[in-house]
Amino acid sequence: MPTFPRVSPGRWRERASRGLISALSLLVFAFLDLVDFVLCFFFRFVDGVLEGNPIPCYCWNRREKQGSPDGVGEEEEVSETLYGRRNLFREIGLVSYGGRSGEKEGKGASRSTRRWSDCGCESCISWQGKEEEKLYLMVREPSQARNHWGNSFESVIFLHGFLSSSSLWLETVFPNLSEVAKHNFRVFAVDLLGFGGSPKPTNCMYRLKEHLEMIEKSVVKPFQLSSFHLVAHSMGCIIALALAAKYPESVKSITLIAPPYFSSTEVRASHTALNRLAERKIWPPLLFGSAIMSWYEHLGRTVCFIYCRNHAMWEWILKLLTWRRDLNFMITDLTKHTHHSAWHTMHNVICGAMKLMDKHLEVVNEVGISVKIIQGDRDQVVPLECSYSMKSKLPLADLKIIANADHNTVMVGREKDFTRELEQIWFTSIESKLS
Ligand SMILES: *[C@@H]1O[C@H](CO)[C@@H](O)[C@H](O)[C@H]1NC(C)=O
Repeated sequence: MPTFPRVSPGRWRERASRGLISALSLLVFAFLDLVDFVLCFFFRFVDGVLEGNPIPCYCWNRREKQGSPDGVGEEEEVSETLYGRRNLFREIGLVSYGGRSGEKEGKGASRSTRRWSDCGCESCISWQGKEEEKLYLMVREPSQARNHWGNSFESVIFLHGFLSSSSLWLETVFPNLSEVAKHNFRVFAVDLLGFGGSPKPTNCMYRLKEHLEMIEKSVVKPFQLSSFHLVAHSMGCIIALALAAKYPESVKSITLIAPPYFSSTEVRASHTALNRLAERKIWPPLLFGSAIMSWYEHLGRTVCFIYCRNHAMWEWILKLLTWRRDLNFMITDLTKHTHHSAWHTMHNVICGAMKLMDKHLEVVNEVGISVKIIQGDRDQVVPLECSYSMKSKLPLADLKIIANADHNTVMVGREKDFTRELEQIWFTSIESKLS
């Protein structure tokens, strides 16, 4: 640094508090490393007793790639972050026993068996026993068979983010669609694999390709979509870009809201994503929560066991406390997953698929699909720099930063403006096609 500006007392206080948070974070996370280490033995024992042939955890396998013959040659493996997470106690190498390597996915667990730590309420297992596994889908048909411009109508697919569901769109955009949009567009909102009312199989690795396959099987193919727009929030953006790269001729526009993106030219892109999106810090609390759920397999499973498995009871208590008949959809959506589905989606999509992003962005850029990126400047979940670095990869994209909005209030609370923005994008892309 060439100059040393004088530090004002305010800045000094800020630096001191940041230092204190870092020091405390180190201590707290060292302790959590120990707790997770101990919980590993607990779950191993209980799973053994209750499940007979349980799904093994990722704690002890450091062999990563070489030990896995079925991983070789496969384009998309599981994320390195599943195996390569730091843990003080594992690194000391106190104990070591065989992990998952060389095993077929989810051996011992059939597709629909429920783990003892998962909720078995009717709405959580409603996907089981259906003939064919498809995503939970909300469709709203247009009120006219032909649109305003004389062609057959266009479709829009909405993809939600992590720990969310199609309610995100049903409660914000859908009720605010203008009459013109309602007449001319067929809108689809899916619950992603492992979330909301969609299947949550225990023998699935929830990689990007599995999420894509389900969307194809549930929406693109059955509705024979050959022309559609995409709207995605947060993690949904990773899936939307992959879908666009796979159907470059069909995708007419992509709207990405708070897209998590770190350049994949970086080595260990998946670790960068984990470290940046779930930094091991105790403050702010939101970050602390995501760090616990993303770094600690067993601690996360314990939280899910306490909270998700008993969600009906917690919802009842919350309603009582807040004196309300209905809870906000964002609260009820938080529990609509299993630990297995959320843990693997976090690692295999948000972290593991980061290295595929540049390839997808290149396709989108080459084909010239119209892209709009929207993010709030107060986003605490996805750093604002993600939108800027994505814009640098997509020079033609339109970037809009919303002042005083965070990861959710970029849509929630400004539903009407947000919906108008979306409609503008769809209409513009149709008009540019006609002209
Ligand atoms: C827009 O959506 C919000 C949130 O669902 C709702 O409160 C509001 O009434 C909607 N506006 C219109 C015009 O429907």
